[in-house]
Amino acid sequence: MTTILLTGKTGQVGWELQRSLAPLGNVVALGRAEMDHANPDSIRAEMRRVKPGLVVNAAGFTTVDKAESDPELVARVNAVAPGILAEEAKRLGAPLIHYSTDYVYDGAQDRPYLESDAPNPLNTYGRSKLAGERAIQAAAGSHLILRTSWVYSARGNNFVLAILRLAREKPTLAVVNDQFGSPSWARALASATAGLLRDLERVRAHSGIYHLSAAGHTSRFEFAQSIVRLMKEISGQSAGWAEIKPVTTAGYPALPARRPRRLVTDKSSVKRVFGIEMPGWEAQLRSFLTDLAAGSP
Ligand SMILES: NC(=O)c1ccc[n+]([C@@H]2O[C@H](COP(=O)([O-])OP(=O)(O)OC[C@H]3O[C@@H](n4cnc5c(N)ncnc54)[C@H](OP(=O)(O)O)[C@@H]3O)[C@@H](O)[C@H]2O)c1
Repeated sequence: MTTILLTGKTGQVGWELQRSLAPLGNVVALGRAEMDHANPDSIRAEMRRVKPGLVVNAAGFTTVDKAESDPELVARVNAVAPGILAEEAKRLGAPLIHYSTDYVYDGAQDRPYLESDAPNPLNTYGRSKLAGERAIQAAAGSHLILRTSWVYSARGNNFVLAILRLAREKPTLAVVNDQFGSPSWARALASATAGLLRDLERVRAHSGIYHLSAAGHTSRFEFAQSIVRLMKEISGQSAGWAEIKPVTTAGYPALPARRPRRLVTDKSSVKRVFGIEMPGWEAQLRSFLTDLAAGSP
């Protein structure tokens, strides 16, 4: 049975991966206490102790605005650590699966991004994730770099939980209508990842960068409206919700990190090579909210 080393076990995606990877092997799930990604020695020591046959890296510094004030730590975790994981994985002959982001793009392109389009990150987080991708490529072992988008789950800080909370606290909520992306439920992402990993020979034969996020795209404003509309319907509580109002990014208080405007990605490559396609963002949102309302873990 393959030993699968999974990092970031306390994160949105890592948490879900513990369950979805279980049928594929013996999952050794690590948190910061076992493997500190800011410390290269800790990464090397743990990789050499566990000797995995497959590595899935779901750890990362993900707080986009906070990243602006600590670029050195962000670089260690998002840029240096993936490179060390890749070197160690290569020594063991283990494929490395790594999550990256559509924040590697500047969002200025009007047609959907292909994986081959030139990246141009606008903020520290995006630059660090791009450097992490390049470090993995430089190690030249077998790898999949999965660029995902707007992840949410029942744990952690994310847009969906923030809207659900604020929409009960305030009479109106202003949400930007000029930023677009593909909101992805961590559970659907973990399940799609497990689908990719069912055939490790195919993974070895098709190393590279792939977009992997919900089908379709939406604006933050339309997404927030959908969160409230679906939650009203699912919970049966139709009163006491904020009205969601559109605002432009320019009309919104400035945040420390610049955001890309239009993150519309073409996901046909992961479908063509691996036969994997994530459900549409609205179907994922409905499943997530149904689960949340039912109080499922
Ligand atoms: N969230 C999004 O919207 C989004 C979008 C696109 C791509 N991604 C990418 O998808 C991946 C997973 O994201 P996520 O949303 O699941 O992130 P998350 O919920 O913030 O989880 C991040 C994980 O990384 C761990 N971590 C952070 N610093 C660490 C360190 N120095 N050493 C060891 N572990 C450390 C955290 O551990 P602690 O619990 O101890 O902090 C946590 O388990 C990341 O690579 C992220 O860049 C996320």
